Parts: sequence; C-alpha cells; structure tokens
Amino acid sequence: MTAIDIRDVSLEYGEGSGARLILSDISLTVRSGEFLSVIGPSGCGKTTLLRLIAGLVTPTRGAILCGDRKVDRPSRDRAIVFQDYGRALLPWRKIWSNVALPLEGGNIQGAALRERAIELLKVMRLEAVADHYPDQLSGGMQQRVQIARSLAQEPKIWLMDEPFGALDAITRQQLQDEVARLAAERNMTVVFITHDLEEAIYLGDRVVVLGAHPGRVVEEISVDLPKPRDQLTTREDPRFLAHRHHLFGLLQGH
Ligand SMILES: Nc1ncnc2c1ncn2[C@@H]1O[C@H](COP(=O)(O)OP(=O)(O)O)[C@@H](O)[C@H]1O
Ligand SMILES: [Mg+2]
Repeated sequence: MTAIDIRDVSLEYGEGSGARLILSDISLTVRSGEFLSVIGPSGCGKTTLLRLIAGLVTPTRGAILCGDRKVDRPSRDRAIVFQDYGRALLPWRKIWSNVALPLEGGNIQGAALRERAIELLKVMRLEAVADHYPDQLSGGMQQRVQIARSLAQEPKIWLMDEPFGALDAITRQQLQDEVARLAAERNMTVVFITHDLEEAIYLGDRVVVLGAHPGRVVEEISVDLPKPRDQLTTREDPRFLAHRHHLFGLLQGH
C-alpha cells in the first residue's frame, strides 16, 4: 500500500521575474511502513520537500497524496521532528508539558494529560526529567523530548529533518536505533532527511539522492540489508559498503 504519493511536484518560491525553481518534477512513492532516507547537498530543497509532505507548503505544480487524500494542510497523521530541538521546545514549559502540547484541546485533560506525557517520556527513558525545563537537558535529551512529543499525536507518517545533525556521534547512533525501533514497532512510514550518507543507508529501506539547482531526484536505491540493523555488523556488511561507495561518488558529483 502506498502511504505517500508525490506526483510530478515542482515548487517555486517568489513570483513573476523573481520566481526561483526550488524543486523540479519530483515523483516518489513511499510504501506504508517504509523507511525512506533522503540525502542531498545543502540547499537542494530537502527541508522544502518535507514541508510539502507535511502540508506546510503547497506545490506550484503536481500534487501529493497521502492515502487517497490530497495534502493541502498539516494533519495530525503527519508529525515533523526538526533538527533544531532548541527552538522546537518551549523553554518556559516543563518537559512533560512540552510533550503534552499536541494533546491539548483533545479529549485527554487534567491529570490524565500529565500521565499520558509521562508514558511517552518513559518510551524515551526520560521520565526522570519530566519536571525539568528544556535548558536543563543535554542536546540529545532535548531531541528525545521532541521525539516523544511527536509520538503524542500518534502519527502514521513520521517526517524527520536532519534530526541528529547537531548531536555527537555516540548519541546520534543511540537515537538512530531508537528511531528505527519505534518506527518498526508502531509501523510508521518514515521520511528521514539527512546529509549523512552512512546514516541514510543505515536507517533506510531505500535511499533517495537529491541533486541541487533545482532540487530533483538523481538516484534511488533499495537497501538490501537485514533488519533490525546493528551499528557494528550492518556498517561492516559488504552490501553497506557497496551502497556507500556508489552513493558517495554521486554526492561528490562524479
Ligand atoms: N520560504 C522560502 N522562501 C524563499 N526561498 C526559500 C524558502 N525556504 C527555502 N528557500 C530556498 O530554497 C532552497 C532550498 O532550501 P531548503 O529546502 O531549506 O534546502 P535544504 O534543506 O536541502 O538545505 C534554498 O535555496 C533556500 O534558500
Ligand atoms: Mg534543510
């Protein structure tokens, strides 16, 4: 089953003679439950593509369908996790209250709201800091709070925009495994943007490479590595190295 169907999508910013083509004729389908990695050079339109899928931006041409519905606005079914956890969390709210944010105005209220937030924090092993404020947490913990918050809306589609780009290598690897596990357990469809080639292969069922000026699909590969992946053995697998070799050349423009 197709979860996301991107049909001949182009996007221009600006109007008239000031119009700039940012993304050109993107066609991509993402299967339900698939983990799709998207990689490409800075400025090629990765964030813009994610914003289109989220329904925060409307294509100039073409259309995006989720299920059989055309995407024309944000939906609770599609959660975004941003790279910039510092700006994504509200500094004046305690951790649990940040996580509860997407639940506010829904049918969970009062003490139950906090309980639900704590349950989500437990998923990310953060219950001990429920009453802390964001600036009391490390970057990796703040990013896990943002992930917990995105799970509050029980998304079918998880959109991640270089979520680990600002984290140190060890934290990054831990979070890669947590995200892979959660996506599989909850059968979410994931579009994962990264500029880290190894991360793209490690996590993805498929890797799409975007080229720049204008942003377009230049390569698409299936990653034939068994799941769950393993930080040591997967990265040493000859198939992993072959994918890395192939895509590295493409990203360098060879
Ligand atoms: N709201 C906007 N208005 C005009 N130009 C934009 C806007 N957002 C992004 N751009 C431009 O679109 C291009 C792609 O940006 P972006 O999607 O952020 O790339 P990436 O995430 O791959 O680094 C860049 O040239 C950027 O300057
Ligand atoms: Mg970006």
